[in-house]
Amino acid sequence: MDKKIFLTEKEMPNAWYNLQADLPWDVPPPMDPETKQPLAPEKLYPIFPKSLVAQEMSKERWIDIPSDILEVYKIWRPTPLHRAKELEKFLKTPARIYYKNESVSPPGSHKPNTAVAQAYYNKQEGVTRISTETGAGQWGSALAFACNMLGIECIVYMVKISYQQKPYRKSLMHLWNADVYPSPTDRTESGRKILQENPDSYGSLGIAISEAVEEAAKNENTKYSLGSVLNHVLLHQTIVGLETQKQLAIAEETPDILIGCVGGGSNFAGFFFPFVADKLKGRDLRFIAVESMACPTFTKGQYRYDYGDTVGLTPLLKMYTLGHSFIPAPIHAGGLRYHGDAPLLSLVAHHKLMEAVAYRQNEVFEAASIFARTEGIIPAPETAHAIKCVVDEAVKCREEKKEKCIVFNFSGHGHFDLSSYDKYLAKELKDYTHPEEEIEKAMRQLPEI
Ligand SMILES: Cc1ncc(COP(=O)(O)O)c(C=O)c1O
Repeated sequence: MDKKIFLTEKEMPNAWYNLQADLPWDVPPPMDPETKQPLAPEKLYPIFPKSLVAQEMSKERWIDIPSDILEVYKIWRPTPLHRAKELEKFLKTPARIYYKNESVSPPGSHKPNTAVAQAYYNKQEGVTRISTETGAGQWGSALAFACNMLGIECIVYMVKISYQQKPYRKSLMHLWNADVYPSPTDRTESGRKILQENPDSYGSLGIAISEAVEEAAKNENTKYSLGSVLNHVLLHQTIVGLETQKQLAIAEETPDILIGCVGGGSNFAGFFFPFVADKLKGRDLRFIAVESMACPTFTKGQYRYDYGDTVGLTPLLKMYTLGHSFIPAPIHAGGLRYHGDAPLLSLVAHHKLMEAVAYRQNEVFEAASIFARTEGIIPAPETAHAIKCVVDEAVKCREEKKEKCIVFNFSGHGHFDLSSYDKYLAKELKDYTHPEEEIEKAMRQLPEI
């Protein structure tokens, strides 16, 4: 049995899969923040290129991947599918565990799958500069990489606490020619408003989004790019699931459980959406989304219309949300600290095609350490959430004597997160649970639609 299953470059999928073509339900339309009526697509043109707006609304099942994007993908794609044999042995489980290794991309995560696509479509429409936000820095570094490869400028608003805690992510962005600012800044009205209320604000993803959107709205040559949540971002990530399908076929496996961590939802959606059609046809297949107890959007949030950012500049999206005023606890999985989840993924969850679980960070780091010591690869703290769930499901298989096939998305490596591992090893990591009262308070601030 091979430890890794590879595809050749010729076997790399050349179209993305659009789940909107096969779901029996429509994604509720985004709403205009001013009129609270369905948003006209043209309203998005000041911040997104037309081709991405078209992908956002598309019901086409397959969308061709342009050859220029495939050429950049070839730097690291197709990514390997590994069998986690040593983890299986350690857990004494009869389950067969596989992981799709998205950590082999230059920035170290799944994020460049969409970053490269977004940079390409922007460039096609003559855009010369892209603005974005980043939390822990994975997305910012992925977009910096993509813009650099395609010859466009990139400006990144990085959540201040991460800017201070993760200097090496910033170095990557600088190396790939991006400008990086700690958010909240005094460069934008949104940032100045937050700083007036709280001069010591550490920032949040929601605030950084407000700043990056404002940057795009106010500058003619600049468009905005989002690293998760939107339909077109999830679409670009489906290359992960499509490759996984081919690799599982080579291994003569049919999966029983697919697992992924969820921040805004892009790595997990991209990984399992190509398998949803099987489930709709009645196959017994479980999809498990894993989140942090400190940001329990699926497990404790509500399915409501909410803003994508803190200030309320973005269209209203129907999604599971903890409320846009949510200020997350400082957990080390920065990429999971977002108040909402992708509308398309939320729709799948609302119709109970998918389950969700939430964990505390100490138990997550314990699972990550087991993985690092058995499989040898150090997971990003976000990815470690998925691993904790894999461990739990594999132990269940041991107890129930069931030989299931469990596959998860290894969304990124943790080479820039070693200070979090140090804290875990020194027993200095705090567990946080997001209080119910805070959720109720935030829900009262949501617009009625
Ligand atoms: C390694 C890694 N995994 C997962 C996520 C969560 O994002 P998403 O749910 O969009 O995949 C992030 C976000 O930054 C990340 O960096």
